[in-house]
Amino acid sequence: MFLDIPAPILLRMRELEQRDALDRNDGTPRLDRLRQIPPDTGKFIALLAASAPEGDWIEIGTSAAYSTLWLALACRERNHTITTFEIMASKSAIATETIAAAGVGDVVRRVEGDFLDYVGDLDDVSFCFLDAEKEIYLSCYEAVVPKLVAGGLLVADNAIDHQATLQPMLDVALFDPRVDALIVPIGKGELVCRKR
Ligand SMILES: C[S@@+](CC[C@H](N)C(=O)[O-])C[C@H]1O[C@@H](n2cnc3c(N)ncnc32)[C@H](O)[C@@H]1O
Repeated sequence: MFLDIPAPILLRMRELEQRDALDRNDGTPRLDRLRQIPPDTGKFIALLAASAPEGDWIEIGTSAAYSTLWLALACRERNHTITTFEIMASKSAIATETIAAAGVGDVVRRVEGDFLDYVGDLDDVSFCFLDAEKEIYLSCYEAVVPKLVAGGLLVADNAIDHQATLQPMLDVALFDPRVDALIVPIGKGELVCRKR
């Protein structure tokens, strides 16, 4: 998956990495920043998605679709698709450019809107990457866990760098009898939950 990343995907990843590094330091308001995962986290979630059981794959918080590109590699590996949700129209527009430039429109379905308005339509989720505003993590967690198939994975970003804000959700997840969960110290800290 990682040694032969297609050139259009690699090129767009590099562009977005540069843009993300710039907007963290140039005074861009927080909500307008891309706030992407680092590359190692991208590899980690791609490995987990590629190892997920049968079922649907979703991502909550597309931004410019950088993390989606990593997950698209897993889609190619597994002949799968992923649906990714983004609430901001301005971010959605950049994600559309990303998907076209990287040539992954056949495996990525984009939805513009609040994920929580769509979660009722979901069933049989086998992989979910949660990377949205921290205030909605617990609602997303409670909405997604019942939809996970046995062995299905929910991975949540920022479990270490936003630990204080996420503590109510972490307290639920780490003691939730429906899942086995732990925090992996990679990138900003990934909470990994596997449905029992
Ligand atoms: C940290 S960024 C995502 C970064 C992206 N996963 C990446 O690594 O490239 C969080 C994104 O979640 C979006 N978001 C926040 N609340 C949302 C919601 N309720 N539904 C869908 N997207 C949401 C924000 O607009 C923002 O673009």
